[in-house]
Amino acid sequence: MKKEQRGQWGSRFGFIMAAAGSAVGLGNIWRFPYLAGENGGGAFILIYLLFVVLIGMSVMLTEFAVGRMTDTAAVGSFRSIDNRWTFAGVLGVISAFFIMGFYPVVGGWAVAYIFKSATGLLAAPDAIGDSFGAFITSAWEPLVWTAIFLFLNVVVVVRGISKGIEAAGKILMPMLFVLLIIIIGKGLTLPNAGEGLKFLFSPDFSKVNGEMLLAALGQAFFSLSLGMGCMITYGSYLKKEENLPSNAFIVSGLDTLVALMAGLAIFPALFSFGMEPAAGPGLVFVVVPTIFAKMGGIGVVLSIIFFVALFVAALTSSVSLLEVATSYFIDERGWSRAKSVVSVSIVMIILCILASLSLGVMAEMPIPLLGVGTFDLLDILTDKIFLAIGGVLVTVFAGWFVKKEDLEREVTNNGEVSFGLFNVWYTLVKYVIPVVISIVAVVGIMGIAQKGVMILGLAIIAVLAIFSKKL
Ligand code: TRP
Repeated sequence: MKKEQRGQWGSRFGFIMAAAGSAVGLGNIWRFPYLAGENGGGAFILIYLLFVVLIGMSVMLTEFAVGRMTDTAAVGSFRSIDNRWTFAGVLGVISAFFIMGFYPVVGGWAVAYIFKSATGLLAAPDAIGDSFGAFITSAWEPLVWTAIFLFLNVVVVVRGISKGIEAAGKILMPMLFVLLIIIIGKGLTLPNAGEGLKFLFSPDFSKVNGEMLLAALGQAFFSLSLGMGCMITYGSYLKKEENLPSNAFIVSGLDTLVALMAGLAIFPALFSFGMEPAAGPGLVFVVVPTIFAKMGGIGVVLSIIFFVALFVAALTSSVSLLEVATSYFIDERGWSRAKSVVSVSIVMIILCILASLSLGVMAEMPIPLLGVGTFDLLDILTDKIFLAIGGVLVTVFAGWFVKKEDLEREVTNNGEVSFGLFNVWYTLVKYVIPVVISIVAVVGIMGIAQKGVMILGLAIIAVLAIFSKKL
């Protein structure tokens, strides 16, 4: 897009809401609790927090700075500074496709649960778990909801940076916040709630291993929308007088707060109901309606509002993903916005159909050589491989291929805002973060049980790197 068409965020609040809207999504409320549950709770959460503070915030600032400095979306950003790095941007575009190959499936579940909450789901609390399993493994029903969710994304993205969705977000995000507080309040007063708190906050370090470290790191990147050029793109719309470090701090702080609140909303109730913390992707869709079911009449209303809010949180995130893929075809291939969005979405809907079916109808037919279904394949490829490597790439790029003075000028707005931690941040970006991520990535990626997926992921990156100048 040309500079004059690109537009800028109307206000500081608008930007923070958009960036936080991208960050806060299914990652916080659906994914974080079930990963914490699968990885033993406290130790995972502690390590997650460490990664957010030590790595996530700095990478977010790096992406904002690189984006605003170059004034282009992800691919152009890398290319304009050094065209051997184009592949790092393209890897981000591929990540956007792959994440959008399963994100709308889960987004569709959220939409479905708005209606299910209204039509008797909560009447039989004991059946909520089974009904979720039956729902996601059926063939057509989840596909219809996924299609609705993806369609709404297309509508928003075709019309450019939207007014409506921002307005809805401004009402629904605070509402989500309030609802989480209500659920937390209810959960904490249930019998045995203390068990849940113990699970969340007393770390059992015997659970720590390479795979768990990578899971925590991947989740930090996923939740903060990092490692694929999303925040580069958002940073490129940012005004020159905005304070980048404080924006990075606020956005990552909000995101983390929502994830922790989701944990607090789910685990005390889960232990009280005697459910399994390692229940996997169904966690929020089972525990939350069950809590509401125990509240009687008002529970139905609250459940509806909760899933509406979850849907909007998912929509603001998936819009940012769709935008990354779309802006590539607009900026780099000269396609019209409508053509880009529609083409990109066709690929995404095909991936989503395969992903949704892989949970039920095709569950017994994993992809040959890879040994997993489409849903898991896309999830593992992005969250465990591409985002972490994307994080190494953007920090190495900023640390070693962008001039230190340029970065300093960018993050301090030409010396107008003071950023006392500049040297700490710069050292982290140039040396510490690439090394730490690389170690975690090597240990973790080697430990991925599905070797075929690991090889495929690394092969994709290698091919991109080799052909970088042609991309
Ligand atoms: N962060 C979002 C969530 O937690 C998902 C998301 C949006 C994302 N944009 C992204 C993840 C870019 C990785 C990269 O739901």
